Amino acid sequence: MIYFDSAATSFQKPASVAAAMWEALASMSSPGRGGYPAAARAADTAFQCRSELAELFGLKNPEQVVFTLNATHALNIAIKSLVPPGGRAVVSGYEHNAVTRPLEALGAKISVAAAPLFVPEAVTEAFDRLIIPGTDAVICSHVSNVFGFVQPIEEIGAVCRSRGVPFIVDASQSAGILPLDMESLGAAFAAMPGHKGLYGPQGTGVLLCREDVPANPLLEGGTGSQSIQQRMPDFLPDRLEAGTLNMPGIAGLLAGVRYVRRGGVDKILAHEKHLTQMAVQGLETMPGLRLFASPGLRHQVGVLSLTAEGADVENIGSALAERGIAVRAGIHCAPYAHRTAGTLDTGTVRISFSDFNTPEEVARLLRALQGVLGRGF
Ligand code: ALA
Repeated sequence: MIYFDSAATSFQKPASVAAAMWEALASMSSPGRGGYPAAARAADTAFQCRSELAELFGLKNPEQVVFTLNATHALNIAIKSLVPPGGRAVVSGYEHNAVTRPLEALGAKISVAAAPLFVPEAVTEAFDRLIIPGTDAVICSHVSNVFGFVQPIEEIGAVCRSRGVPFIVDASQSAGILPLDMESLGAAFAAMPGHKGLYGPQGTGVLLCREDVPANPLLEGGTGSQSIQQRMPDFLPDRLEAGTLNMPGIAGLLAGVRYVRRGGVDKILAHEKHLTQMAVQGLETMPGLRLFASPGLRHQVGVLSLTAEGADVENIGSALAERGIAVRAGIHCAPYAHRTAGTLDTGTVRISFSDFNTPEEVARLLRALQGVLGRGF
């Protein structure tokens, strides 16, 4: 199978990830639950993983790195810490259901800073207009999971700082692919999966927290600390991590993060850009296709969406699957993004890349698409 669905999860992982998970199963118990070697190995691995993530994302203190089940879990903690029931949030026009559904559940008033695709200045202007007194939080995806649009989080962060409104970044499609520096961004929280651009296993996610922002747990339970007290500890990461940690997952995530840091975020980005550019050049020559590409890929990374005249996107996805090529087709859990870009009725075929894809695979995708589209629907 040729895998172009890394925006869902990076299915191909470095061999070191599986090896680290196996070793964790064989040698680690639970951190903070005992002074014996298996517990100490677990504590050390969890601390190493927090430390490397803190270094990668510009946090001073590894304890500001909280492990979660996935990015959705991390976003729920962030949003529910800052937006009270019936509160007010400003979000971009490209948010995922992991942002908008929790806000709906809170009965929040949602203002949408909608702006055309690949026009970052228009995004900043829209946020600037909508962030008014009484806004509880601003939430923005760094990169759209549908279109790969890189949104101007530095500029939005600056607007938030000037208005004193907390900023939550959804880094689900950018972590491990684009630089993100929490210190200079001044964001209250950044949420990310461990299993996409950080190459960890499914079941891992991360919430990066600013130290001075109050964070409320979604779950209460054992933390291995302050066990007599019946309230959750007030310090990070324990405050937000109730129950036994996913040690095989965290060990795998640590191996994934080391893979990213060894190769370098810049190198991964350049590789994905090269593949995306190659796909765009080939697809541009195919009649009847509508491609969602930023000229010169200036404001786009790793994800490319398309529609085809007269063809159902799901049928294209299935026809590619029959040819051994994995893409995602439909509405990619992000109706806000489709509404903003005008693809809510059709959905899109989404091609997404990882460090493991090759130019040969892109060439095969182009040939397969030519065959699929030539066949007609
Ligand atoms: N949010 C993930 C995707 O875009 C799951 O496919």
